[in-house]
Amino acid sequence: MYMPNASTIPREQLISRASEIKMIPTLHTIADRVFSVLDNSNSSFNDLSDIVRYDQAITSKIISIANSAYYSRGIEIFNLQRAMLTIGFEEVRAIVTCILLMDGIMKLLKLNEEDLLSLWRHSIEVACAARVLSERLMLEDPQKAFTASLLHDIGRIIFYAFSPEYKEMQDKAKPGTDLAALEREHFGIDHQETGHIIAVKWKFPADFAKVVRNHHKQLPDAGDGLLRLVAASDRFFTKEPGGISPEGMILDRERDAIAFEVKKIMKFMQLDIR
Ligand SMILES: [Fe+2]
Ligand SMILES: [Fe+2]
Repeated sequence: MYMPNASTIPREQLISRASEIKMIPTLHTIADRVFSVLDNSNSSFNDLSDIVRYDQAITSKIISIANSAYYSRGIEIFNLQRAMLTIGFEEVRAIVTCILLMDGIMKLLKLNEEDLLSLWRHSIEVACAARVLSERLMLEDPQKAFTASLLHDIGRIIFYAFSPEYKEMQDKAKPGTDLAALEREHFGIDHQETGHIIAVKWKFPADFAKVVRNHHKQLPDAGDGLLRLVAASDRFFTKEPGGISPEGMILDRERDAIAFEVKKIMKFMQLDIR
């Protein structure tokens, strides 16, 4: 049951933080890499999207802007490359500049590089797994599954950034604990709800917003392809209870291939030496 103590940030405050946030921070290494690509006149559009597609902060903002009324003309854009082409090189540069400027702000928040890195790594793991599942089950577009997974836990940023006790709460939790339930107990709200506030405010496509809102709920029915892929992949890594699912069995067989892919991405992003 939700029983906040005096030092706990209340639900209402987390809601308003989630409504107000305009940008989420990224890791130094990633921002530096994107900038060096933008500054190099020999870089191609593909060089840029190769890096951006592995980053929550930049991807979320690009998807958000591409789906704003100004650019989208009512058609939802899920595909990151298409979103980047829609908004253009200069807009991407502006986004990365803003994110870099956030470095100073980050110091004021409770967020640190270590938290960001662990969230980033988790999101990449889920994204790689969901892409494999999508291919094996021939369900949804694998790229869409990847991007949706990269963004699924975006609501956790709000807790990391504004609650000093969040990390401790998480560290103390046993493996397999339902993190969302634990958050609801402590704060009266979970990261699915804070994430959904961001997803709606930032005009994510409805399918992405649905994944953000529901990925900890018990596996949805067969009709919900994208949500099923992300929820099963997330559960595979968090080891939250949910029984042995066909998706879990596929992922178990592909465990090494997924780990290899994650390692490859970490190396590519130069995050493997940390
Ligand atoms: Fe989650
Ligand atoms: Fe997750």
